[in-house]
Amino acid sequence: MILSIESSCDDSSIAITSINDAKLLYHKKISQEIEHSNYGGVVPELAARLHALALPKILEETKKFFNDLKAVAVTNEPGLSVALVEGVVMAKALAIALNLPIIPINHLKGHIYSLFIEQIEEKFPILTLLVSGGHTQLLYVKSYDEVEVLATTLDDSFGESFDKLAKMLNLGYPGGPIVEEFARSGDEYAYNFTVPLANSPVSAFSYSGLKNQVRLAVEKSSVKKEDVCASFQRVAVEHLLQKIKKILKKSNSFERFAIVGGASANLYLRKKIDELCSEFNLTLHVAPLEFCSDNAAMIGRCALRAYELKRFTELDKIKINPKINF
Ligand code: KG4
Ligand code: ZN
Repeated sequence: MILSIESSCDDSSIAITSINDAKLLYHKKISQEIEHSNYGGVVPELAARLHALALPKILEETKKFFNDLKAVAVTNEPGLSVALVEGVVMAKALAIALNLPIIPINHLKGHIYSLFIEQIEEKFPILTLLVSGGHTQLLYVKSYDEVEVLATTLDDSFGESFDKLAKMLNLGYPGGPIVEEFARSGDEYAYNFTVPLANSPVSAFSYSGLKNQVRLAVEKSSVKKEDVCASFQRVAVEHLLQKIKKILKKSNSFERFAIVGGASANLYLRKKIDELCSEFNLTLHVAPLEFCSDNAAMIGRCALRAYELKRFTELDKIKINPKINF
């Protein structure tokens, strides 16, 4: 079995994954959403302090697996450095105490592997849209080691723009699920926001301009929050679709498409991507809703592959990279 730890942002999570059959034998996550909601976003110092309280509590419940462990995996990049440190320090202590190898895992790769939790087989190559609080990237994933970035954001990320809109409208944190809920009963054509980079040939995403358009609308007059959310969501998703379509039209070598990351739980986005996949004859892969946002089960599934590849790191060589991408 592999014990995996995730603490890159505001979720403290530990999982135990069986090496032979990829079964998830244990998984727990303690989210800090309520604590951060007072501030309208994640406060790094508070996140670190809460990880230091939550992780040992969860670890206590995994003691019965200790004798069967073959490795400890931990998210070491990217994320909030003070939050990453909490998981890495725990992983090191466990590795010393139980005499186990340690496997550092890239959080973004973890999101990709959320597609294969409890599955033995990996389905590569796969064109993957990663939409989270920190990232918006279109990736062509050919294998564990071969990830090609086809498009990335120039400024804010998709999930972050939902969080910022929620903050503007005083709706709470995290904004994604709340904005989606408000959008459900709103008129998506009430506001005619323009789609970012619509006439630009660049393969990139941008959300700061849309955020400013929304801010102007919100500041100008009293607004119906549902209509703002619905109009914003329509345009935010349309921007993704336009850029993905452009790439799909250039090549017909893709067969599979996936959406991963916290914002891949958005059902409006899932529906629109599903329609796009039908149009381009692609098979759509998504993770179960419970594994879209940060969790240690995806880190554990990714670690199974890393274990096979013997990607162990010496204790004093494990690096914390807050900013690294693919
Ligand atoms: O992957 P994740 O849990 O953490 C990061 O690695 O960033 O993603 C969290 C992000 C937040 O910005 C949150 O607002 C967004 O995902 N999110 C959503 C939805 N659920 C979560 N965004 C849009 N619609 C949702 N339903
Ligand atoms: Zn994440």
